[in-house]
Amino acid sequence: MKVRFDFVVHWLWTIVFAILALSGLVMVGPRYGWVMNYNIATADYIHRILAVVYVVLTFICIGYEVIRVMRADQKKLAWFMIGREGYQLFTYVTTLVFIITGVIIWVCMDSNMAAVAFSLYIHEKLTYIVIASVIWHIYVKCHALVWPKKTNVKDTHKLSKTR
Ligand code: HEM
Ligand code: HEM
Repeated sequence: MKVRFDFVVHWLWTIVFAILALSGLVMVGPRYGWVMNYNIATADYIHRILAVVYVVLTFICIGYEVIRVMRADQKKLAWFMIGREGYQLFTYVTTLVFIITGVIIWVCMDSNMAAVAFSLYIHEKLTYIVIASVIWHIYVKCHALVWPKKTNVKDTHKLSKTR
């Protein structure tokens, strides 16, 4: 079985995204804090580690896309996270906003509170928009979660003979 690069990246991304969204929501405050028993410090720690993984994954995707453009590879990658249109473009743009605001929060935390407050606002509101879009995406693509049924090779053979 050949494992496709875009398929692996999609599922890695999904795991990282889910943990980032959960740990992020825990940090928002009492409304979602119960998810991690109000352990905000651990949520912060997890969020920062996974944020680095998320940035690395994004750069891997961008690098892969640049190589494809240089090789004039026009093939559509169905599972790829970034692209020029549709949900791929949406994911690409929202990812860049997450990274830019995330870096501002991280770097300016002890110096520029106005920048941190503004970035936190964008970072948080974007989380709700992207989670809503992911729920819609999962609804549309939920067939991917159904385990393929085993087809009986003998029966299929018999069927084709009787036709
Ligand atoms: C899928 C991507 C991400 C989601 C859904 C997400 C979500 C969140 C949420 C909901 C918060 C809490 C905001 C608040 O308290 O109002 C947060 C905080 C934060 N995020 Fe993200 N985030 C993501 C990616 C990133 C990235 C890529 C970085 C860094 C490069 C980052 C760095 C931070 C930092 C530094 C905080 C503040 C933590 C603190 O209060 O000490 N996030 N994030
Ligand atoms: C359980 C969760 C998920 C399921 C079941 C799922 C399912 C799928 C499937 C089946 C495809 C292939 C599309 C096709 O063949 O037409 C796909 C593509 C894609 N997925 Fe997911 N996905 C999930 C989570 C996510 C998450 C968390 C994100 C991003 C935050 C995401 C972003 C994308 C993008 C950008 C594409 C490419 C879409 C396109 O080509 O238009 N997915 N997903």
